[in-house]
Amino acid sequence: MEDEADLTGATPRRRPKPDVLEIGGRRLKPSTLMMGHGFDPALSEGSLKPPIFLTSTFVFESAAAGKRHFEGVTGRRPGGAEGLIYSRFNGPNQEILEDRLSVWEDAEDALSFSSGMSAITTLILTYVQPGDVVVHSGPLYAATETLIGRILGRFGVKWLDFPAGATQDEIAAVIERAKELGRVPLIYLESPANPTNALVDVQAVRAARDAAFPEGGPPIAIDNTFLGPLWHHPLRHGADLSVYSLTKYAGGHSDLVAGGVVGSKAMINPIRMMRNTIGTITDPNTAWMLLRSLETLELRMTRAGENAARVCEFLRGHPKVESVGYLGFLEDGGDARQADIYRRHCTGAGSTFSLYLNGGEKEAFAFLDALKIAHLAVSLGGTETLASAPAAMTHLSVPDERKQALGITDNLVRVSIGVEDPDDLIADFDQALEAV
Ligand SMILES: Cc1ncc(COP(=O)(O)O)c(C=O)c1O
Repeated sequence: MEDEADLTGATPRRRPKPDVLEIGGRRLKPSTLMMGHGFDPALSEGSLKPPIFLTSTFVFESAAAGKRHFEGVTGRRPGGAEGLIYSRFNGPNQEILEDRLSVWEDAEDALSFSSGMSAITTLILTYVQPGDVVVHSGPLYAATETLIGRILGRFGVKWLDFPAGATQDEIAAVIERAKELGRVPLIYLESPANPTNALVDVQAVRAARDAAFPEGGPPIAIDNTFLGPLWHHPLRHGADLSVYSLTKYAGGHSDLVAGGVVGSKAMINPIRMMRNTIGTITDPNTAWMLLRSLETLELRMTRAGENAARVCEFLRGHPKVESVGYLGFLEDGGDARQADIYRRHCTGAGSTFSLYLNGGEKEAFAFLDALKIAHLAVSLGGTETLASAPAAMTHLSVPDERKQALGITDNLVRVSIGVEDPDDLIADFDQALEAV
């Protein structure tokens, strides 16, 4: 490294001291690594926690170093920037955050973004060109559907989808039809899907992709917001890129908006180039807040998951409840295919579920208006319990026919369980059901 610096005249990056990733052959767990991974206090006056680097630009150590950094950032030299340049490209808080995000999915690399949607948009703009046919699972988060269908449609991009629970043969048939229509640049998944909670068989998608493109096919990207990074590790099951709204469980306190993408260096590098150009990186303050959030991610998600199991068990026996769409109940019969995907892919049922009340909008609204602990708000994955009515709120603009097909009925209440005391939550749900 020293020699190379002498030859090129460039200053090697002031890297943090090597991270301790294992002790005595034992690989350290993500929950341990979240406390210090990717940050060397010696580079920041001994500060235990990373300071927030509020600067728009970074001073180069020499003109040659500046040139070398720009060669990396513009792609003239592979491997990206070797130093900090300008805060639209990178920054210490964002880099520490990205190192820690990769840990959860055991990925080579990660990028942070200003929102989940800016992560998804940057990823799609990287891989998709006019005339291409995007293959995706359905349904997708509404804004993602709008992006692919309506916004990219203006640039001649087409799409074909398969239902979330599709088998390998069904997925293969959709890929074949898409190939006939044009170049397939990307296979985009969301699992569990918002708002149906339907799971996608990532292993089947991978097998179908590999069979359809023996020479190497389009990347498989998956929105892992609902169960990741604790309960679903899609890179292990064949996805190439895992995408997050970090606004949800990763941020976890309903006080920030951010996004992330994790995957191999080869897949992430072109996305980084696109992010550098269009400026969709997260800001240092939000990155810092996320570092704080990640320290308690496992604690929060574990507690929320346990709470959800308790609450759902209470709800499914209640006379005013028609049914509860909770992943933890898949094993109890019903959809065998979904149960099979759940067993192969998921390590937990999450804490976001669908509650179908007996009745319609009147009953759903009465329930929501009566809640005393749970807040009436959209979003999910925060420390507090949230509840909303998708048909009247997040999915109001979805045509009635599609709403019916997706099970977004007037009696549906979407619930995201937080980390409150579970018995208090059950008491709240009980009294709100009384009011229906
Ligand atoms: C599954 C899923 N993906 C992406 C997003 C978009 O994330 P953001 O609001 O951070 O842009 C959301 C937001 O609700 C979501 O639920």
